[in-house]
Amino acid sequence: MNRRVHAAVPASPLLRRGSLNRRFSASPATFAGKVTVVTGAGSGIGRALATNLAKEGATVAITDVDEAGLAETADLIRAAGGSVTSHRLDVTDDLGAVTYAEELHARFGAVHQLYNNAGVEHHGDLEHSDLSQIRRVMDINYGGVVNLTKAFLPYLIESGDGHIINVSSLFGLLGMAGQSAYSASKFAVRGLTESLRQEMLAAGHPVQVTCVHPSSVKTAIARNSSVAAGEDAAAVAALYDDKLARISSDRAAQIILRGVRRRRPRVLIGTDAYALDILVRLLGPAYQRGAAALAARVQPGLTLKDGR
Ligand SMILES: NC(=O)c1ccc[n+]([C@@H]2O[C@H](COP(=O)([O-])OP(=O)(O)OC[C@H]3O[C@@H](n4cnc5c(N)ncnc54)[C@H](O)[C@@H]3O)[C@@H](O)[C@H]2O)c1
Repeated sequence: MNRRVHAAVPASPLLRRGSLNRRFSASPATFAGKVTVVTGAGSGIGRALATNLAKEGATVAITDVDEAGLAETADLIRAAGGSVTSHRLDVTDDLGAVTYAEELHARFGAVHQLYNNAGVEHHGDLEHSDLSQIRRVMDINYGGVVNLTKAFLPYLIESGDGHIINVSSLFGLLGMAGQSAYSASKFAVRGLTESLRQEMLAAGHPVQVTCVHPSSVKTAIARNSSVAAGEDAAAVAALYDDKLARISSDRAAQIILRGVRRRRPRVLIGTDAYALDILVRLLGPAYQRGAAALAARVQPGLTLKDGR
């Protein structure tokens, strides 16, 4: 850029405030005594996050739409001597989220960490998926993160040491055929998370923000997945459970908590996530051809026509 023009451009408010990184505390985050909220805690990664947080001495507020799953998670925590409170909450219920946040704050006097983990998978291409299926995935995976974050943000700021952890996906790093609705929701989570982190920095709010990108974790996600017309739900679930899922939810939770402790902006889980993240950055949009071929190899019912 021409030096004279450059000099005439006013420094952005972000830059004028000096080193942004200095605004985030460099000391490791702690869990003992913290009030933590985990959505989707009735199963999988959410349950593992809740039990591991309780082991670390945090008070854990767990929520889910699955009340039986929630009760099992609460029993596990209590049996291990941990502190837990359990509440049925659908993350798409924006008013319910506000009431829940008010209640927790009134009960504990502070809320420090919010784990936006609840999510659903939808398998199938856009052409054969119903609008209702596409909207549901976006409402839960993205809308849920917005609802809970908006409801808790004032309390996280007030805590003086807040942290928001949003669970995106490997499919928030790259798109893949057969994952258009799910991937869109997880890219949305990533965009929100990375922008929110900068907003907290710019405003000087004491709130860390972390985006989590897991690859294949052994949970019920594929068994709970909706599928597009013509897809075989049982085959999709079997493929995931038998061939793709490799990492235990406990291991995934430990990796997430390590990232939270280190106040990381991004946490990747699984070698696939690391490898594909690098590949996408190296190849740019050209990664899509390879991803389509990979999708055709691993996903039932998907074929790749030559020459496209
Ligand atoms: N398992 C994986 O390989 C994987 C990979 C990438 C990302 N993720 C993400 O991890 C998160 C956790 O998924 P998981 O693998 O543990 O799946 P899971 O199906 O075992 O658990 C998801 C939980 O979310 C709950 N939930 C669904 N809709 C809800 C709603 N409207 N309100 C509240 N709770 C709701 C479910 O009842 C369930 O208990 C999800 O956001 C998922 O997209 C998982």
